[in-house]
Amino acid sequence: MAENREFFYRRLHSLLGVVPIGLFLINHLVVNHFAVYGEESFNKAASFMHNLPFVLALEIFVIYLPLLFHAILGVYIVFTAKNNVKRYNFVRNWLFFLQRFTGIVTLVFIAWHVFETRVQVALGADLDYGLMEGILTSPVMFWFYVIGVLSAVFHFANGLWGFLVSWGFAQSPRSQKIVTYATLLIFLVVSYIGIRTLIAFAYGV
Ligand code: HEM
Repeated sequence: MAENREFFYRRLHSLLGVVPIGLFLINHLVVNHFAVYGEESFNKAASFMHNLPFVLALEIFVIYLPLLFHAILGVYIVFTAKNNVKRYNFVRNWLFFLQRFTGIVTLVFIAWHVFETRVQVALGADLDYGLMEGILTSPVMFWFYVIGVLSAVFHFANGLWGFLVSWGFAQSPRSQKIVTYATLLIFLVVSYIGIRTLIAFAYGV
């Protein structure tokens, strides 16, 4: 019985990483990419998202609660998982280790990012281009965001591989190889979108 419950929680953890958290991550980075087309484009896109009907309920049920569940169980998994990296130097073992490592880095990054954006907006700051420009023109924060975004995107893309394999969508060696290339492509494309946006805020180009 206890094993069944653990199995259920692990499946739920895995599913939530893709839907809704992974989809939200992509949506968030794509919407932010409007910054590349200028201040006005970004402000329009951000205010559209911010003024969606039922936005607070959407945030709570589509982002915060799933993320909280995924993060709490994730930290538990990280500190109880057996990492094989030292014994077997295979690429998959490193990716297994990096999945856990980027989970922790992403957690620190998201906590800080939510504090200096969403919490500040709730306390009265304006949600606009200037908010992110003010943060990202500091070189320390720029690099912190580069690491945070790369970490989150890696964690999502490599996690998607694990999801597709563990849910049985990619079982044969051939399909796992295709999924490896597909998730590598997702990592490269989504990373580009995220980093390009950071450069737009930091350097105005
Ligand atoms: C942007 C936020 C996040 C996204 C998009 C995300 C996405 C994912 C995905 C898609 C998986 C793969 C599920 C599977 O293995 O079947 C996963 C696994 C995992 N995530 Fe996250 N995650 C995020 C944040 C976090 C955080 C904050 C932690 C906290 C440490 C975390 C810890 C983990 C762990 C440990 C696994 C591996 C689970 C396992 O192997 O069974 N994740 N994540």
